[in-house]
Amino acid sequence: MTTLSRRAWLHRSALAAAALPLSRLPIPAQDSKSDRPVGDEDFIRLSSNENAYGPSDAARTAVLESLADANRYPRHYYQTLIDQIAERENVSSECVLISAGSSEILGLVGLTYGIEGGDVLGCHPTFDFAMRYAERLGCTWSRTPLDENYHYNLGALAEEAGPNTRMIFICNPNNPTGVETPHVELRAFCIDQARRHPVFIDEAYIEFSSRGRNNSLADMAAQTPNVVVSRTFSKIHGLAGLRVGYAIAHPSTIALLKNYHTGRGVTVSNAGAAAASACLSDPEFESFCRKKIVQGRELVCMAFDGWGVEYMKSATSFVCFRNDKFSMKPREAMEKEKILIRDYDEFPGWSRVSIGTVDEMKTFIDAAKKYVG
Ligand SMILES: Cc1ncc(COP(=O)(O)O)c(C=O)c1O
Repeated sequence: MTTLSRRAWLHRSALAAAALPLSRLPIPAQDSKSDRPVGDEDFIRLSSNENAYGPSDAARTAVLESLADANRYPRHYYQTLIDQIAERENVSSECVLISAGSSEILGLVGLTYGIEGGDVLGCHPTFDFAMRYAERLGCTWSRTPLDENYHYNLGALAEEAGPNTRMIFICNPNNPTGVETPHVELRAFCIDQARRHPVFIDEAYIEFSSRGRNNSLADMAAQTPNVVVSRTFSKIHGLAGLRVGYAIAHPSTIALLKNYHTGRGVTVSNAGAAAASACLSDPEFESFCRKKIVQGRELVCMAFDGWGVEYMKSATSFVCFRNDKFSMKPREAMEKEKILIRDYDEFPGWSRVSIGTVDEMKTFIDAAKKYVG
């Protein structure tokens, strides 16, 4: 095939695929047990905070259509996505850096601020990827404990901050606890600390929090050189497998982070960028996911209330609960029931269940009930 006819063929195939009814495509439809791992078909996967309702029909169609451009670098897709993000967050396009999942931003931040050694601050337990990255570069992380109510301990972090501090990491709402830090407190903390230290806020679950994106510090990040916010398309938008995330920061900070961005910053595929763009044009799907996931979360919390199982007040798509009412470790018990959940060596006594579809959560509740006594 000549290049031209190959392209024409690809274009036609993508359009033909896009024209197929979605039920006939080799991808599971929404509301199915679509979050089961390949090769583990019998398991319900409630262990990685994936969105069982995703990806949306619009995102699937966008991926298929993007195949026609699979032989091209994704610059055009990037610009569209960056402009859309900027509009949604009410910041300028220069304040946006897109990445292969927000994990890539966490790595970039760990590298940028940790490369010369020193202290990185952050509570424990948290989503510790950035700090562990910095530790591998020779930084020290003292793992500041959460407060007695399992809240992110801003007071303790402020006390610890000093001349050796290279970065303060906040996860809001926090993973694995699910607990949200009050917006007003966090904003005041950042205003104060950013005068002296870079502050990084991981907002992977912000859309599930009490005030949704109104709890975000994206506006502050765009204006303040020492504040960086990260977001992801993996959670509310259900694109975990396509790997799309982004940072919002002042243009000077974006330039700093770009210094270490691999592949000259071209790490998201056409398909990922196209799907992410489609998600931003589909607010109905976003509110559908939020509504269903909050509904599933409430079902689980109601069951825990009935059984006297202690849990943390979640502002996310997962619930962290205490193990002591269970006749065996919940993770092991649930594995026997073909449900994957999570526990942590470094956070003994607690387990975490991700919120899947409402039906999956009913199955989880029925299964868990057998081990509570
Ligand atoms: C708090 C938090 N931040 C970041 C991530 C990374 O997500 P991704 O790389 O898929 O954007 C996760 C994933 O579970 C997370 O829980």
